[in-house]
Amino acid sequence: MSSNIVVAIDGYSSCGKSTLAKALAKKLHFIYADSGAMYRAVALYFIRNNVDLQNHKQVVEALDKIHLNFHSRDYQTHITLNDEDVSDEIRQMHVADKVSAVAAIHEVRVEMVRQQQRMGKSKDIVMDGRDIGTVVFPHAQVKLFMTADPKIRAERRYKELLPTNPAMTLEEVFENLAHRDYADTTRKESPLTRADDAIILDNTDLTPDEQLEFALDLVKPLIH
Ligand code: DC
Repeated sequence: MSSNIVVAIDGYSSCGKSTLAKALAKKLHFIYADSGAMYRAVALYFIRNNVDLQNHKQVVEALDKIHLNFHSRDYQTHITLNDEDVSDEIRQMHVADKVSAVAAIHEVRVEMVRQQQRMGKSKDIVMDGRDIGTVVFPHAQVKLFMTADPKIRAERRYKELLPTNPAMTLEEVFENLAHRDYADTTRKESPLTRADDAIILDNTDLTPDEQLEFALDLVKPLIH
């Protein structure tokens, strides 16, 4: 058994998972891995190459051509898709609209989970996503399940997206989140659900610092 620490953070879209995961990793000098970015990069590749999601052969062939890498710089997500930095483009609405459908495909999940498990094999890591505490790292030492009021979540994401998507409305963001929540929780493959041993963190009324304190209190006792 390896003795590295894995912190799994799951929850709904735009709940502040990545903000907390980054802050926690930075504070503890752990690796930060954004599993959602991987699904987004796959979705981007599928969009660019007109991959038909219903066509199993096309999906499998495309997956074989996708090489993803994280470049850890200042605890932000820098992800490359076949050596091209796509960190900004994967946040655009055209990717957000498609990613849930891509993340629901069995073959896509098998490949992503395999890569994620490899990352957490020997290093201390904080990974955020939807199935990290249930499927990717069921034995993670710390599991958090994050949630927040949907209106607050939409407002937060709207503020984040506005500088690069000036034409977008708050209603569109709210709809997109509602759609993704529905798709993520009802899909057949690894639906978003709380692991039995995950601790719920509702951050509707919590500042980022308060959330960080909460998580640090859980992880620090495990560090020797
Ligand atoms: O966290 P995010 O919004 O960047 O995630 C993008 C999409 O990928 C979202 O629709 C859910 C999906 N996802 C997933 O199915 N499993 C994960 N571990 C992470 C993300």
